[in-house]
Amino acid sequence: MATLAALFSLLLRLFAVQPDIIVNNGGDVTTSFTACLATAGVRNVTSHGSPSYDAALRVSIQNLRFAGAGEPKPTAVVVPASLADLRAAVACARAAGLVIRLRSGGHSYEGLSYTTEDNGHTPFAVVDLAALDGVRVDVATSTAWVQSGATLGQVYHAIAVSSPTLAFSAGSCPTVGSGGHIAGGGFGLLSRKYGLAGDGVVDAVMVDAEGRVLDRDAMGEDVFWAIRGGGGGTWGAVYAWRLRLVPVPRHVTAFVVNRPGSVAAVARLVSTWQHVAPRLPDEFYISAFVGAGLPECSNRTAGVVSVTFKGLYLGPRHEALKILTSRFPEIGVSDLNMREMSWIESVVFFSGLPEGSSVSDLTDRVLHTKNYFKAKSDYARCPMGIERLTRVVNLLSEQPKAYVILDPYGGAMDRIGSGELPFPHRKGNIHGIQYLIDWTAEEDEHREEYMDWLRRFYDFMGEFVHKNPRTAYINYMDLDLGTNNWSGSDRRRSSRIDDDGSPNPEVEAARAWGERYFLGNYDRLVLAKTMIDPDNVFRNAQSIPPLVGRPGMTRSPRGISPKVTSNGTTYDS
Ligand SMILES: Cc1cc2nc3c(=O)[nH]c(=O)nc-3n(C[C@H](O)[C@H](O)[C@H](O)COP(=O)(O)OP(=O)(O)OC[C@H]3O[C@@H](n4cnc5c(N)ncnc54)[C@H](O)[C@@H]3O)c2cc1C
Ligand SMILES: *[C@@H]1O[C@H](CO)[C@@H](O)[C@H](O)[C@H]1NC(C)=O
Ligand SMILES: *[C@@H]1O[C@H](CO)[C@@H](O)[C@H](O)[C@H]1NC(C)=O
Ligand SMILES: *[C@@H]1O[C@H](CO)[C@@H](O)[C@H](O)[C@H]1NC(C)=O
Ligand SMILES: *[C@@H]1O[C@H](CO)[C@@H](O)[C@H](O)[C@H]1NC(C)=O
Repeated sequence: MATLAALFSLLLRLFAVQPDIIVNNGGDVTTSFTACLATAGVRNVTSHGSPSYDAALRVSIQNLRFAGAGEPKPTAVVVPASLADLRAAVACARAAGLVIRLRSGGHSYEGLSYTTEDNGHTPFAVVDLAALDGVRVDVATSTAWVQSGATLGQVYHAIAVSSPTLAFSAGSCPTVGSGGHIAGGGFGLLSRKYGLAGDGVVDAVMVDAEGRVLDRDAMGEDVFWAIRGGGGGTWGAVYAWRLRLVPVPRHVTAFVVNRPGSVAAVARLVSTWQHVAPRLPDEFYISAFVGAGLPECSNRTAGVVSVTFKGLYLGPRHEALKILTSRFPEIGVSDLNMREMSWIESVVFFSGLPEGSSVSDLTDRVLHTKNYFKAKSDYARCPMGIERLTRVVNLLSEQPKAYVILDPYGGAMDRIGSGELPFPHRKGNIHGIQYLIDWTAEEDEHREEYMDWLRRFYDFMGEFVHKNPRTAYINYMDLDLGTNNWSGSDRRRSSRIDDDGSPNPEVEAARAWGERYFLGNYDRLVLAKTMIDPDNVFRNAQSIPPLVGRPGMTRSPRGISPKVTSNGTTYDS
């Protein structure tokens, strides 16, 4: 595997001399960009207008809401094949004046890895990390180097091939990219036992806006903190993560059970779940999907509602059964059909891959059932009370296209401090809430109606959830919360009107949504951004803005001592 070899020789590459990057400023941006890439030896470049452009762009667009002809399109899609290619892609885009859209798995809920939100005024390029997908597991140290373009399925597969008793705590969808996922935290079925994906990162290699190649030491602890949960596309281009793997037993127990019923019956079950699931032993994860048109039920009939429980227990079946019989008999233990399997088989079981899929299918990067969707999120700190829950379930029973996913917190999530990573939603949160509505191409003419329904439902939920501020999870990105407005910021920066040290208006504007994702961690994120990318090269609709034009801040960032020079020739760690 060429990409594996690339990881193997990571240190060698850090010493490698890079070719000069020459930009032809005479032509248009696309011409100067592609010429620059050609000079740097980057081969896999597909420009707008080329016959393979559509395929190269669409391959990992995972929300069809952003695939339409009216969406802003990149001037080119570049697929770096090495660290040198990635550096060249960043440098050439910057030199040509293109905004960079890094894409790992393409699962951004708001399409931020392949489009822009300003009606196409800003020319941009997609830097697609699909070819940087190597995973190298070191069983002796229980760690793995993972290139950021590797999907979670590729990571899980490589770990399982190396050891039946090692795993990594991250999300359940195998086509999600480790680049974007870990950058936003990363919650999954092992998180009550081991925390988020970001909690398991021990080192990283990132290309910053200046083209420097920085590992943890070189980027400094503030930036290393920021990249593990502060959101993708903001700090630099992560080339690889070093993960600490976690132990799992040879056999785990898994089940999925759908419980249809009346609104009142479903509300009662969810209510019991709210009290039980966050307090189960750390080894037990049970999530609840609530809706009237869940994929498990073929009946998308208004008024018929159900809850689906997905359960994983890190231990044998008889223990799982004993725990549920005493703690959650309402789930109906007699027909749970709990099965013992290896951890990697449980990954396939919960992957959403078609029935009969095998462990090697986890390495398929392509999401085969794509749709149009909109999502929003919340956190709950208290159970809701049966009367309120009944109203919630009743609303869901009226819109079969919508559903809610409740992820149990507690366990390790309660024991990790809210400032350990940018992701702050730890102690005291009993579960996350994700609101989703999805539809097909034929139904897309009703898009606004569906999105409005979800927004009204979200408004209705406001009084029952965590408030002041109402919170959200960055990986369930929701642009309704507010967006950056960069138009005019270049002018501000060049005229240096903020040099007097007054608060940057972009930073204060972004606080409105930034504190909902990050609570008290927001200001530290702004400082980390100012250290690593004061010129705001890596930016999107919801990236953390830097404090611009502060004397002494932009050029000599405190706390960061780059040990790799911009030409990559020295590395003195
Ligand atoms: C079907 C589905 C299932 C999901 N399941 C879960 C789940 O179980 N748990 C959970 O926590 N989340 C889940 N998510 C949310 C998911 O974690 C986020 O959408 C995540 O950001 C996707 O990462 P990606 O690399 O696939 O996406 P991308 O769209 O490629 O990237 C997302 C963001 O990160 C940036 N980025 C990508 N690569 C890099 C890089 N190498 N360096 C720096 N920035 C980068 C992008 O520019 C973009 O801003 C799910 C999403 C979907 C669509
Ligand atoms: C470019 O990269 C993509 C993704 O890895 C790959 O499918 C494609 O074959 C590559 N094209 C060329 C010309 O190498
Ligand atoms: C669909 O719902 C109807 C009415 O509730 C029921 O009779 C039928 O069996 C259901 N079909 C399936 C496949 O569940
Ligand atoms: C963004 O900022 C520009 C310049 O400051 C302003 O003209 C424009 O109206 C703003 N756009 C939005 C959507 O607020
Ligand atoms: C690389 O950069 C360093 C410091 O910026 C400089 O001293 C050195 O001469 C450069 N090397 C090459 C080969 O350009």
